[in-house]
Amino acid sequence: MKTIIEPFRIKSVEPIRFTTKVERTKILKEAGYNPFLIDAEDVIIDLLTDSGTSAMSASQWAGVMEGDESYAGSKSFFKFESAVKKITNHEFIIPTHQGRAAEKILFTIVGGKGKYIPNNTHFDTTRANVEFSGAEAIDLLNEIGKKPEVKADFKGNMDVEKLEEFIKKTGTENIPLVMITVTNNSGGGQPVSMQNIKDVRAVCDKYNLPLFLDACRFAENAYFIKMREKGYENKSILEICQEMFSYSDGATMSAKKDALVNIGGFLSINNQELALQSRNLLIVTEGFPTYGGLSGRDLEAVAKGLEEVVDENYLQYRIKSTEYLGNKITAEGVPIIEPPGGHAIYIDAKRFLPNVPPQEFPGQSIVCELYLEGGIRTVEIGSVMFGKYDEEGNVVSPSMELVRLAIPRRVYTQSHIDYVAEVVIEVYKNRDRLKGYKIIEEAPMLRHFTARFEQL
Ligand code: F0G
Repeated sequence: MKTIIEPFRIKSVEPIRFTTKVERTKILKEAGYNPFLIDAEDVIIDLLTDSGTSAMSASQWAGVMEGDESYAGSKSFFKFESAVKKITNHEFIIPTHQGRAAEKILFTIVGGKGKYIPNNTHFDTTRANVEFSGAEAIDLLNEIGKKPEVKADFKGNMDVEKLEEFIKKTGTENIPLVMITVTNNSGGGQPVSMQNIKDVRAVCDKYNLPLFLDACRFAENAYFIKMREKGYENKSILEICQEMFSYSDGATMSAKKDALVNIGGFLSINNQELALQSRNLLIVTEGFPTYGGLSGRDLEAVAKGLEEVVDENYLQYRIKSTEYLGNKITAEGVPIIEPPGGHAIYIDAKRFLPNVPPQEFPGQSIVCELYLEGGIRTVEIGSVMFGKYDEEGNVVSPSMELVRLAIPRRVYTQSHIDYVAEVVIEVYKNRDRLKGYKIIEEAPMLRHFTARFEQL
């Protein structure tokens, strides 16, 4: 088979500023060993997130010029609405400035004290919005999804038996909705199978509960279904997406991922009463229902992006390029969540640094070293992001300690990725020199964004 190439030419470029290791040592120290606090200018390859970092197409930029900035009933909104409906077939489409704004609206209405939201794995902002409403966020990932070294096709699946047990134990009156995150970001960017979505739907039907998708990476999920699930090989990506959404009653979406834009999102809902309440809240917090927190040009770009993302050549390039990085580093022994996910490679910090215990943040140690070694910015997803304290003040760690290398869409070329692989392998070879960290400053919520560290 011939090499899979980037299915685009580059029309506009952005220079990268190179730094030396000596400079980076100083920069990292000043940033309190937290890459969120490093200036983007001081980063060579930025793998902090795949969110809002996509390169837009010529057609999206052309759409930007066509944006209708009318306050109410803008032409661009109708294009946006119809692009979202084409994929979700949901009745009410509510634009928001990004995913968490949709989450905030949804959980303000359905959440609250005494309520529970089950999910395969809540992303951090989703969890924060659920908890901020007073409700509890419950993760019900299947067992195989918790084993980083095991290769399986759909490690993002929800544990359907546990879901049913949970519903029986908790009572349906305390569960306003069930959510599935596609792909499962916090669990390694792993996909959810169509069968699992159907099975969760069946449980929801049995107990009369609505099912919502956290749909940020719906197209990447659909591509995995096409590649891995029997019966879907000959379906188009659009058909697969439509089937995925057909089992849902609503969705929250960060368009900053699979809509290939730099800002945007939506809440889509079938239930009229819930949609009415959401729109009322939208007006208070985001804007009039035909623009949400967005400008007309943003709505245009989302509409075009949603068309482009379901293109199979694009998705093939996208999924293969992530896999390419995964294969290159695992060939040298670097432990990652297997198999590679859709939008990111997740280094397994527990196996990478077995001598640094979770309470000394092994993931943070790798993150810092990748920056020092090659100016690569990544993010810890482990005890820094999800760690809690017990009553005695001891760190209670999540089950996995990960470092995420998120790949922006259509931004980096294969030689950029080769460079990333070289740096990761170099750090891995010198892993015995890496030390743990301690937190010296932290916020009460979402502390990973602003915490400061010291090397032990
Ligand atoms: N849900 C998932 C699964 C996400 O990955 C994100 C964002 C959100 C919701 C919230 O969307 O950022 O538009 O408000 N994830 C980004 C990331 C930030 O880096 O993974 P948002």
